[in-house]
Amino acid sequence: MNTTPRIDAQAGGLAARFEATFGAPPHGVWAAPGRVNLIGEHTDYNEGFVLPFAIDKRARTAVRLRGDTLQKGSPHQGALREDTTVRLLSTSGGQVLVLADAAKLTPGAVKSWAKYPLGVVWALQQHGIQVPGFDLLLDSDVPLGAGLSSSHAIECAVITALNDLTGAGLTAEEMVRLTQHAENAFVGAPTGIMDQSASLRGALGHAVFLDCRDQTVQLVPFAAQEAGLVLLVIDTKVSHSHADGGYASRRASCELGAETLGVKALRDVAIGELEKARELLDPVTFRRVRHVVTENERVLQTVDMLRSQGPAHIGGLLDASHASMRDDFEISCPELDLAVDTARGNGAIGARMTGGGFGGSAIALTPVQHEQQVRDAVVRAFADAGHTAPDIFTVTPAAGAERIL
Ligand code: GLA
Repeated sequence: MNTTPRIDAQAGGLAARFEATFGAPPHGVWAAPGRVNLIGEHTDYNEGFVLPFAIDKRARTAVRLRGDTLQKGSPHQGALREDTTVRLLSTSGGQVLVLADAAKLTPGAVKSWAKYPLGVVWALQQHGIQVPGFDLLLDSDVPLGAGLSSSHAIECAVITALNDLTGAGLTAEEMVRLTQHAENAFVGAPTGIMDQSASLRGALGHAVFLDCRDQTVQLVPFAAQEAGLVLLVIDTKVSHSHADGGYASRRASCELGAETLGVKALRDVAIGELEKARELLDPVTFRRVRHVVTENERVLQTVDMLRSQGPAHIGGLLDASHASMRDDFEISCPELDLAVDTARGNGAIGARMTGGGFGGSAIALTPVQHEQQVRDAVVRAFADAGHTAPDIFTVTPAAGAERIL
């Protein structure tokens, strides 16, 4: 897939920088976006529904395979085929070259940002796909630690590149599962499939309505601008890793709930069954289950609403989603609540935290004429509360992963 390069103003500069660094031009440049989730939180690993979109911020990777640098017939050709050296460089941070051996990767052993590209290499190998050595230069404008899936953007850019370069012929669905395997088993974060699906399968102007049970996708137009709205992201600057305990413990509660209720996944519990579930579950597990069951329903309603009436009508669903995450799933934090409440109090028509929680970003769907007021009010509220200043910007639904040079 994605073999026809599309125009991206940054691609040429990255390729030139790659050549200056590694001494030869890249075989191509690939990009994959971060995401926001409009609604459907912690529903993905419960085989439910999500509605994220790919944002107009992305990770770009210039890549050159090392194994084919010698001409056919060269006496060194065999040796180079066995060259499994991987050299990785990122334009951000300390710009330290990371060296690894693609044939000797160990889950959990890599600590730097290199765990994302190397996790992909490892997952491909686990899947029986040979990955030769390669050089890679990464440049990303997806904010780090903001809950916008900067790590998945890297993984999706890398897997798209390696899929093209090795001729592996993987489908988007397969690449989603492989990057999930990289995250779960190599990086050590027990996350679901939402982020990769948005990054790999997103489309300009659309949200990705994903059924996480069978991976079917329907693209739903999200034309905020035409409705006089902007989607503001408020990055609280509270950063949290999904490899820490909170995410895993929520996942464990959901699994306990499903097992106690005798269903394969919480996707199979209907709203009307919640009262019965209350009798069978301890109070905390019940609230976790109620969040997932009602959140699935809110995703379906949001999709219906977007299709029938447009984005100006989904505000109440966003608010209800936030309340459910704050009170039932308990994954919000004071900064996220302050961002949401302040945005709502200053003209946003709906707001919620987005992503895994415990920090990261909130989204606020806001009429254009109130945008500045919301921005000013949130900055002021954070200063008054003594919180680190938030970063506030708008996002629009962008294209998914693609080759750009
Ligand atoms: C993180 C995970 C996703 C999903 C969300 C919560 O972003 O990576 O798989 O579970 O949290 O909806």
